[in-house]
Amino acid sequence: MSDLAVTTSRKASTEQQDRARAWAERLAVPLVPRKGRSIAEVATDEDVTGVLVISDRDPVYYKPGRQLEYFFHPNMAKVRIHNLKAGRGDPMVEAMQLSGDDTVLDCTLGRGCDAIIASWVVGETGKVAGVERIPILAALTAHGLANYEIQPADVAAAMRRIEVHQADYHNVLVDADSASFDVVYFDPIFGQPLDGSRAMDLLRALADQHSVDAAALREAHRVARRAVVVKQPRGSSYWEQLPFCFEIVAGGASRVEYGRLSAS
Ligand SMILES: C[S@@+](CC[C@H](N)C(=O)[O-])C[C@H]1O[C@@H](n2cnc3c(N)ncnc32)[C@H](O)[C@@H]1O
Repeated sequence: MSDLAVTTSRKASTEQQDRARAWAERLAVPLVPRKGRSIAEVATDEDVTGVLVISDRDPVYYKPGRQLEYFFHPNMAKVRIHNLKAGRGDPMVEAMQLSGDDTVLDCTLGRGCDAIIASWVVGETGKVAGVERIPILAALTAHGLANYEIQPADVAAAMRRIEVHQADYHNVLVDADSASFDVVYFDPIFGQPLDGSRAMDLLRALADQHSVDAAALREAHRVARRAVVVKQPRGSSYWEQLPFCFEIVAGGASRVEYGRLSAS
C-alpha cells in the first residue's frame, strides 16, 4: 500500500484534470481517474492510504481509514494580526523580539499560521522561510499561502511573501550559513494535545511528531543571529533535558510558553 494518489471531483472539467495532473507530478504520486467512485472506494481500489482531491474548491486531502479531511486554512493568523494592530501584542512575536526587516527561519511550518504572523511583522524588507518535512503538508501550505483569498490585503501580502521548503529542518540547518537568520523558530507537535482543537488534531494526524533534539538546537544556535525560539506547553519539562539554558518567555494567557536561547 502506498501513501497517496491524486484524483478529481466526480464531474471533472478538462481544466480540473490538468490541475490534478500537475499536483500528481509535483508530489510524484499516481493520478487516478475518479470514475464516479467515493473517496473510500478510490483509496481501497487504488491501494493507497490517502487521496488528494482536486476540484473547483481548495485541494482536500482525505485519509478515509482515519476519517480525516485536511485542507489549508490560516487558522488564527487574522485574529493575531488584528491584535497586533490594536497594540495587544503577540507572545511569539515578543519571544522572538521581532520587528521590521528581520529574517526568520520557521523550521516547523505546518499550516503556516506562525509564519504568517512573522511575515506580517518583518514586512516587505524582511524575510520568512518555512520548512515542512511532510510532502503533502508542505504542498498544501505552499499552495494555500500563495492562493488563499483573505482580507485585509496586508495579511494576504504577508502570506504571499513566505518561502516554503519541503525538507527536514536538520538538513536545512546543517546547510545554512552561520548567523544567516535573525531568528530560528521551532513549534513541534506536543506530546499531549492541549485541547480538542479540530484543526490541530488534523495537523497532528499528518505531521512529523518528533520533538526538537539537541543536535537541531545546536545547529539552530549557529544559524541564528539573535535567538532560537521554541514553543512548548506551559510548564513543560522539555527544557530540563537540554544541554542549553533557555530563558522561558510567557505565552500570555494561552497554555503555551516560549523558550528563548540567545545567540552568543
Ligand atoms: C505544531 S506543527 C507547526 C504549526 C505551525 N507553527 C503553524 O502555525 O501552523 C509542527 C510541524 O512541524 C513539522 N515537522 C516536524 N519535524 C520536522 C522536521 N524534522 N523538519 C521539518 N518539519 C518538521 C510537522 O510535520 C508539523 O507540520
